[in-house]
Amino acid sequence: MANDILKYLREKEYVSGEVLAKKLDISRVAVWKQMQKLKYLGYKITSDQNMGYCLISRPDLLIPQEVQRGLSTTFIGKKIFYFSELESTNIIAKEKALHRTEAIDEGTIIIAERQTAGKGRLGREWFSPAGGIWLSIILYPQLPPSYIPRITLMTAVAVVKAIKMCTQIEPQIKWPNDILINDKKVCGILTEMSAELDIINWVVVGIGINVNIDHQKFPEDIQANTISLKEISGKKVLRVKLAQTFLQEFEKYYDKLKRKEFPSILEEWKLYSHTLGREIRVNIGENIIERIGTGQAVC
Ligand code: BTN
Repeated sequence: MANDILKYLREKEYVSGEVLAKKLDISRVAVWKQMQKLKYLGYKITSDQNMGYCLISRPDLLIPQEVQRGLSTTFIGKKIFYFSELESTNIIAKEKALHRTEAIDEGTIIIAERQTAGKGRLGREWFSPAGGIWLSIILYPQLPPSYIPRITLMTAVAVVKAIKMCTQIEPQIKWPNDILINDKKVCGILTEMSAELDIINWVVVGIGINVNIDHQKFPEDIQANTISLKEISGKKVLRVKLAQTFLQEFEKYYDKLKRKEFPSILEEWKLYSHTLGREIRVNIGENIIERIGTGQAVC
């Protein structure tokens, strides 16, 4: 219902409670209650006895009505499960993908303002306070399991493009999936999946972007290697805009991948690569491989 009210509330223009009540077929008291809900969420709404309600500003919260407003995707983010706090968006996304208790379409996303047990790669914790973008995307790609690393790689390209478009900052990609600015991590990607020998059942791509987080808030052990977009740009970055841009870029690259146009994505990845031409050390079980990054391994 709050969503419907938002459709009729015009920014900087008054709409009377009576008109809203008529349009939505509810009482004026119900309209008032919905206004209180919206104010609680962070919408600034003024009211005037004669003129009605006027929307002054919207919150930079990743609530579905904000993220979906003007989102130009066809399937990514068409359904959003939003939490102000949860353990981990990947955990919830996996539960939904796995049990299919409700119709979960491809492109459904789980977003949280904060995670209490955010998961990083290799069983590490992922620090996820308010101010970041913590989201997971559920996919059912009809592709062979060997495509999984490509999904991670295209996600990295989509993140870099979105950050560049929204902040003019150009991050780099450190193989396989760290996004860096000035050699410090600004975003991590955690891809989890279930697959049979030759088909993928589901994939959950978890993306964590340090957007508006002050440096001193990062735990001491990661402070030296971590950075946020706010620190670099010197001002708050609009998370809703960045999340929308990322989802749009993600859909674009995922569609390309499905059309088997991976080589063109790889070319872009190379442009942003922090790894190409550098010596890299890769942990594979107990073995450590050292070599010069060429981009070959991901093809
Ligand atoms: C890494 O270690 O670099 C991967 C970090 C991935 C973090 C994101 S935040 C959203 C999603 N939910 C999680 O619990 N993890 C991923």
